[in-house]
Amino acid sequence: MNCYQQHKKQKKNLDFITHFQWGRTTAEKCEGAAYRLPNSADGCEAVKNVFMDAMGLTKKQATALMGVHTLGQAKTKNSGHAGRWSDAKNTRKFNNNYYNSLLKKGWRPMKEVCGNKLKHQWARQGPGPMPSGSKTEMMLDTDICLAYNIPKGARGEICCAWQDQTLGNKWERWEMCGGKWQGKSKKWRTGPAKRTKKGDCSRKGFAAKDVKTFAKSESKWLQEFQKAWTIATSNGFSDLKYLNESCSSESHAQAAEAAVTPEASSPNAPKGAYPSGYS
Ligand code: HEM
Repeated sequence: MNCYQQHKKQKKNLDFITHFQWGRTTAEKCEGAAYRLPNSADGCEAVKNVFMDAMGLTKKQATALMGVHTLGQAKTKNSGHAGRWSDAKNTRKFNNNYYNSLLKKGWRPMKEVCGNKLKHQWARQGPGPMPSGSKTEMMLDTDICLAYNIPKGARGEICCAWQDQTLGNKWERWEMCGGKWQGKSKKWRTGPAKRTKKGDCSRKGFAAKDVKTFAKSESKWLQEFQKAWTIATSNGFSDLKYLNESCSSESHAQAAEAAVTPEASSPNAPKGAYPSGYS
């Protein structure tokens, strides 16, 4: 049994291997590539331009693709931004925590990042103490805008991005952006409008409905992510092949070889570079 058949047998929830297509050629140059990448300061205009208008994703698919920010982190030396999109434990897992982080935490604009006045992001403020240093949790304008309407971005907004208790949280006493939620008396010790100068950010974000759907259901997120990822990795190629179209053991090995990155297919690449990530 080859690894494709083995995978089918396992019937995994996240079935990338069945949808995987190989045969993309590596472009050694891509004119203007830097300008085609989204700029976080452009907020959901960038999400729309890049993922919907240029790549052909629906809004729901674009929102699903953004969920990859559940992984990894930003570093000032690379992008000028700093922090993870959630806590360290979750940012090591491919899960739907990104959407829960967006909705279940309070986010305040950070007008400069590590002293850099040209960089703006959102920093987690509540529930609980504000994580800092290597535990910093942040969101970019392109993330926050999915759930909240923030036309001026972190640079110009002074509102607090947070949701109310209807998301099923059990905290008796929350602290969000400076206010304290008294669970029993069901009110804020300092009213929401007083917590920040301008109060709460509007919850009418670009894809607020989809963010809520994905926060509630990991499998709904994965279903949509699967579609988005398939489009993202097959755009512009009409002659890609599915692995089961090349599944004799010999041609399967060739497919696996072709499917890895150029580096991984080099003679020095570690054996099993493909498809160990999915097995
Ligand atoms: C509007 C769209 C997006 C913007 C503005 C954006 C921006 C950024 C920025 C500024 C970083 C930090 C880089 C660093 O400092 O090292 C980052 C990290 C990352 N992004 Fe995005 N991103 C976007 C969409 C996406 C999408 C669609 C994916 C995947 C499908 C993705 C995957 C990642 C990953 C995995 C990291 C973490 C990298 C690491 O830990 O080294 N991003 N992104």
